[in-house]
Amino acid sequence: MLASRPAEIPGPHNFKADALPTRAPAAGEALLETIYLSIDPAMRSWMRAGTGYQQGIPLGEVMRGGGIARVLESRAEGFVPGDVVQARLGWQTHPTLPARYLQKLDPALGTIEDWIGPLGLSAITAYFGMRDIGGLRPNDRVLVSAAAGGVGQIAVQIARIDGCQVTGIAGGAEKCAFVANELRAYGVVDYKAEADLTAAIGRACPDGVDLYFDNVGGPALDAALAHLRPDARIVLCGRISQATATEPYAVRNLHKLGAVHGRMQGFLVFNYHARYHEARRWLAARLCDGSLKQRLHVLEGLEQAPIGLGMLFRGENSGKLVVRVGRVAA
Ligand SMILES: NC(=O)c1ccc[n+]([C@@H]2O[C@H](COP(=O)([O-])OP(=O)(O)OC[C@H]3O[C@@H](n4cnc5c(N)ncnc54)[C@H](OP(=O)(O)O)[C@@H]3O)[C@@H](O)[C@H]2O)c1
Repeated sequence: MLASRPAEIPGPHNFKADALPTRAPAAGEALLETIYLSIDPAMRSWMRAGTGYQQGIPLGEVMRGGGIARVLESRAEGFVPGDVVQARLGWQTHPTLPARYLQKLDPALGTIEDWIGPLGLSAITAYFGMRDIGGLRPNDRVLVSAAAGGVGQIAVQIARIDGCQVTGIAGGAEKCAFVANELRAYGVVDYKAEADLTAAIGRACPDGVDLYFDNVGGPALDAALAHLRPDARIVLCGRISQATATEPYAVRNLHKLGAVHGRMQGFLVFNYHARYHEARRWLAARLCDGSLKQRLHVLEGLEQAPIGLGMLFRGENSGKLVVRVGRVAA
């Protein structure tokens, strides 16, 4: 459960493990066994007291989190033991939830690992960010930050699959090799190895950038703004570099947007809920034909969840970060 609010990077010090008895399902409910939990940067904002785009989690309550689980007992119509569902499970091994919160996985679209990875919310975020918000067009010069992460790796591949020249920004040689060799990006920038990120992006994207998919904000956003082409689009997906900043970062290059008649737009994936199936169908078809891959970074055991959350803010994950809580095979 949530024990304290994070002042900086969240971690085990913010949580308390509690051995609660499992609760037998009431009418309309199912008892579940958690298989995977997704670990996401937004969780830090849910841990704060204030109201963001979602209410803060009260201290002493179960940490909020989405994942995949197996039905153990059911008093809910349409669900039987053995069904695999996705839901907002919370950080618990055996949640009991009402049926209205459960969605059965469609095995025709992918495996359990696919549903927590390339058919999960990070991938869906990349899909709508690139296509609806970014208005991705063939031959666009695309730049993606946090390109080796959960959202970023899918964003890079969507751009590549759609016939764009895509460059990824990532931290460190191993992540950059993954972006270049596995995701098959046209170019990479290791921002941790560059003293001048603006110059490095200029070298990697000599013709400029039509679409910048921003996962990090701060200095990377400024550096990308310096290289926009006419009618450029910036997708404000996330600003993880600013999550623990004490002073707001002052963006210097905003005026460049006007000079190129560009636009910059943020979005929340939850607002696309009614269209998740569209994204999943598109992603599943690319998984099936082998053009889309996803690297999952798997931590073992529920006790790793607080550690994993901190890893995101230190760049210690490579790929979509998840925690395996229970057995995958039935
Ligand atoms: N708009 C939406 O609805 C929506 C939905 C989901 C996620 N998001 C946002 O999308 C972004 C990516 O989320 P994710 O779940 O896919 O996480 P992720 O990219 O798998 O993990 C976070 C990554 O951010 C990078 N990072 C951390 N601190 C940084 C810093 N100070 N400067 C630059 N990079 C830093 C690290 O990669 P490097 O090692 O490469 O630095 C780290 O691995 C986040 O900003 C998240 O909030 C938005």
